Formats: sequence, C-alpha cells, structure tokens
Amino acid sequence: MERVYNFAPGPAMLPQQALETAAAEMLSYQGTGMSVMEMSHRSKGYQAIFDEAIALLKELMHIPENYTVLLLQGGATGQFAAVPLNLLKTTADYADTGNFAHGALSQAKAYGDIRCAASSREDNYTYIPEITKDMVNPDADYFYICTNNTIFGTRYSSLPDTGKVPLVADMSSNILSEPYDVSKFGVIFAGAQKNIGPAGLTVVIVRNDLLGNPSPLCPKVFNWTLEAEKGSMLNTPPT
Ligand SMILES: Cc1ncc(COP(=O)(O)O)c(C=O)c1O
Repeated sequence: MERVYNFAPGPAMLPQQALETAAAEMLSYQGTGMSVMEMSHRSKGYQAIFDEAIALLKELMHIPENYTVLLLQGGATGQFAAVPLNLLKTTADYADTGNFAHGALSQAKAYGDIRCAASSREDNYTYIPEITKDMVNPDADYFYICTNNTIFGTRYSSLPDTGKVPLVADMSSNILSEPYDVSKFGVIFAGAQKNIGPAGLTVVIVRNDLLGNPSPLCPKVFNWTLEAEKGSMLNTPPT
C-alpha cells in the first residue's frame, strides 16, 4: 500500500515501523490475547508500557532527577488552564507570540492577574519579540512562552533569561525535534500528536519544587501534584 507524505502539523505522520508493530500486535499484544487498547490500565502489562514510555522520554530529553513526568489527557489546551491552576498565586507574565500563546494567555486571565509582557500580535505574529530581563516581573509566579508557534512558523532561537521566575513552555510542535536543557524550565508541556505519537496524550514535565501548591479550584484531573502522587493514573489513561 502506498503511503502519502503528510505534512500536517498534527496529528502527524507516525514512523511506519511503529504502525506495523502496532498492527501486528493488534489482536494479541505479547501473547496476552488482547490489544493494548483493551487492557486494564491497572494491569502489570500496561504499567510496564507506561513506565517504559516515561523512561524513554527521560533518557531522550536528559530530564534531571528533580523533575516529574506526567502523561495526562485534555491536550495542550487543557494545560492552558492547568498552568495557572497549578502555579498562579499572585501574578504571571505571558509572551503573546501566536495563536496558541494567545489562547493560553486568554485562558489564564480567567484565573487571576495575568500580564502580557511581550507581544507581536499587532504585527500578525511575524516575529518573536525580544524579551530582556528587565521585561520580566521578578515577582511573577512564572513566565510563559510557546517555543514554536505552529501556525506562524516562528520559534525562539534562544530562551529568555527569566532569572528566578520559572519558565513555562508549550513545546507542542517542537518537543524532541531539537535538544533543550530541561533544567532551564520550570514546566514543559506538549500535546503528543505532533512530535511524539498519536493524539490523546499530553506530556507535562514539571520541576518538583513547583508541585504541592495548586489552587483549590484546580480540577483533580489537571492537578499535577495529585497526578504525580497517582503515577498519572488518577483516572483511566488512553491505553
Ligand atoms: C503550540 C501548540 N499549542 C497548543 C496546541 C493545542 O493542542 P491540543 O490540540 O493538544 O490541545 C497546538 C496544536 O493544536 C499547538 O501547535
């Protein structure tokens, strides 16, 4: 069968080898007599798949020990709300550099005092505005960026220096496509469907000191602290 080149940003092409392996295991995964999609998420077999996925991501991204990797649902869009609900205490800064950064900024405004610290919106997002240290509110709970602006095709060639203010990044459309020093970030999140795998999964990488103080309004499924305690399986994941 002829495959086409699919240049859509996501859901994106998956490696043929991965599709063939999944197809071969569709009726019986490793002799279990069932597909992975039919497995209990509480079974040892499924837990092994889950653990291996996290271990491989840690290895590929050189994720330091003091970070927790969560595999959640709700897409990157869910994290537009989860970020303020887990991190916002007083105020936060956002860089408005494209459609998805703007979506995150608008969503966060529902939860508190959010400042747009830098923007290229008036110029139709044709560039990434320069972000100097004096533009960062040192009292902000976090500084938010979208590392790659999927629709506008712009990306940060260097990360802003936010000092002690944790840098939070939506990496949905460039995670794993270039090396990043994870220790420069407080939080990285990404929908899986562009650069990692099929749709239905959201990766959140959070520095451990940022856990433990979510808003009481935070829904349990978006509560990073609770999900970390539950091994990302507070409820049924997309097996
Ligand atoms: C950078 C970026 N952020 C967020 C999203 C929204 O992701 P999701 O559909 O997983 O909510 C997308 C694409 O859809 C994106 O490219």
